[in-house]
Amino acid sequence: MGSFYLLAVVTAASVLGCVLSDHYHPSGPGSRTSSAKREEMDSKFWNDEAQAGIKARLERLQTASKARNVVMFLGDGMSVPTLAAARALLGQRRGDTGEEAQMTFDTFPTVGLIKTYCVDAQTADSACSATAYLCGVKTNYGVLGVNAAVPRTDCEASTDSTKHLQSILDWALADGRDAGIVTTTRITHASPAGAYAKSADRDWEDDAAVKKAGFDTNRCPDIAHQLIHNHPGNKLKVIFGGGRANFLPNSFRDEEGMFGSRTDNRNLIQEWQQDKSDRTVKHEYIWHREQLMRAKIDLPEYMLGLFESGHLQYNMKANKTTEPTLAEMTEVAIRSLSRNEKGFFLFVEGGRIDHAHHDNFAELALDETLEMDKAVARAAELLSEDDSLIVVTADHAHVMAYNGYAPRGNDILGTSVTYANYTWDGMPYMTLSYTNGPGFRPHVGGGRPNVTDEEDYGTLTWHSPVDVPLNYETHGGDDVAVFARGPHHSMFTGLYEQSQLPHLMAYAACIGPGRHACSGATHVLGQPVLLLAVSILLTFFSLR
Ligand SMILES: *[C@@H]1O[C@H](CO)[C@@H](O)[C@H](O)[C@H]1NC(C)=O
Ligand SMILES: *[C@@H]1O[C@H](CO)[C@@H](O)[C@H](O)[C@H]1NC(C)=O
Ligand SMILES: *[C@@H]1O[C@H](CO)[C@@H](O)[C@H](O)[C@H]1NC(C)=O
Ligand SMILES: [Zn+2]
Repeated sequence: MGSFYLLAVVTAASVLGCVLSDHYHPSGPGSRTSSAKREEMDSKFWNDEAQAGIKARLERLQTASKARNVVMFLGDGMSVPTLAAARALLGQRRGDTGEEAQMTFDTFPTVGLIKTYCVDAQTADSACSATAYLCGVKTNYGVLGVNAAVPRTDCEASTDSTKHLQSILDWALADGRDAGIVTTTRITHASPAGAYAKSADRDWEDDAAVKKAGFDTNRCPDIAHQLIHNHPGNKLKVIFGGGRANFLPNSFRDEEGMFGSRTDNRNLIQEWQQDKSDRTVKHEYIWHREQLMRAKIDLPEYMLGLFESGHLQYNMKANKTTEPTLAEMTEVAIRSLSRNEKGFFLFVEGGRIDHAHHDNFAELALDETLEMDKAVARAAELLSEDDSLIVVTADHAHVMAYNGYAPRGNDILGTSVTYANYTWDGMPYMTLSYTNGPGFRPHVGGGRPNVTDEEDYGTLTWHSPVDVPLNYETHGGDDVAVFARGPHHSMFTGLYEQSQLPHLMAYAACIGPGRHACSGATHVLGQPVLLLAVSILLTFFSLR
């Protein structure tokens, strides 16, 4: 009876709406303009803004130099709606309306879009995508550093070196540059592992996982072991992140009292120290923020920093005494790597944007995005646009939607305000909600519950509402953005395969196989010139 009445009202309203106005885009009351900014009502504001945009682009047109240094920032799961919402939160935290705010990388001169699907999957995971954006080859869901001829969990297939891929870190090292990795996740997690590991399964982070899957760690060494003992992991000057447990025996407690997870009784942190001692290079293992701050003053040549047993804490929940921020780790990494005159490649991951989304924790996902932006800002201050390329991108999207018709400046973490009777049930809905995940609420009395009425509403671990109940929210298959600043930034424009990224960075930096910015002329002109010289010589000799 009640729902019949509701349906009748809705039908009547929508029929009426069709006649009276564009029912897809409800007109708000006059109060809508009250949320607008005064200067924005003047056309001059927007015309000036556009002219400033033209000027900024003209000032940053293509540079001819090569990129000595490359810093790649990866926001794990940093979808385009995440960018827009994080930007709004940034502005609103400053007391502004928010939508007009700019993150540091929002101001980069070039933006492109990349396609993130994997060889066998419509929607990427962080392993196949890391292989694409660090090794330049698309592969299967869940595998790292090997091509798609290796099925996931096929240990034997992954031992075939013809299926192994080099990463852009290998290319940088081969050119005499230095390389490093920084992340807020376990250092053995899929994204950073794409820089150094070759594994048929991203989950083989320690020996226990390889054995559990029924394989021999001599055939298929675990990811932590590869980082410490294999090339290029053992050549990295900077390794900062979490995940100590995977490096320590399960009988051993780490500095913060947590047990290791290895079943082979090996202490890979000690083995790392031993390897560096054997090579008589200055090195330091650190686990505490203060050690990182001290190291900055007298930098050892090699640094291994593992600041948590597992992932680093979310920024908004971290103990700031013991855990460094992503910006702090990035700064020390850049200061360390900058000592190489030939330059460096640094990979920096804001890895927990993804985790927050998987739990439908919208605020944490946005805050982690802003934390990565602070790291980008730090890098942009430390490195010159003339010789350092900075690329910011994501591995895949998520299914968070930025929806509704809220007025300008409406709390990005709040409910969307509806004009006319747009919701059928009169219940509020969130501007940021998800299509799936743990934030599902069963209907109450045949209708949606009032989620803003919940006890933990507005807390960091309140789940934003979803349509489909899943234990964890899923990734999205949509394209993600690429932002670039520095030499050859314009190479990153357009819409292209994710696997082009390391090739484009290598082009700008003049490293690795393939065509380079510095050798472009030789490739185009050099070969014909060489051919001509050879034929002249041949002619000369044949005439004699
Ligand atoms: C942070 O960690 C330190 C060292 O373990 C501890 O003394 C301190 O109480 C912690 N702070 C908070 C806010 O938990
Ligand atoms: C909108 O909702 C209000 C309050 O429930 C009601 O009085 C009004 O008739 C509704 N308008 C339409 C067009 O359904
Ligand atoms: C939903 O809950 C909020 C917070 O308790 C309350 O202010 C609001 O009136 C409720 N709305 C409806 C439609 O029940
Ligand atoms: Zn994920």
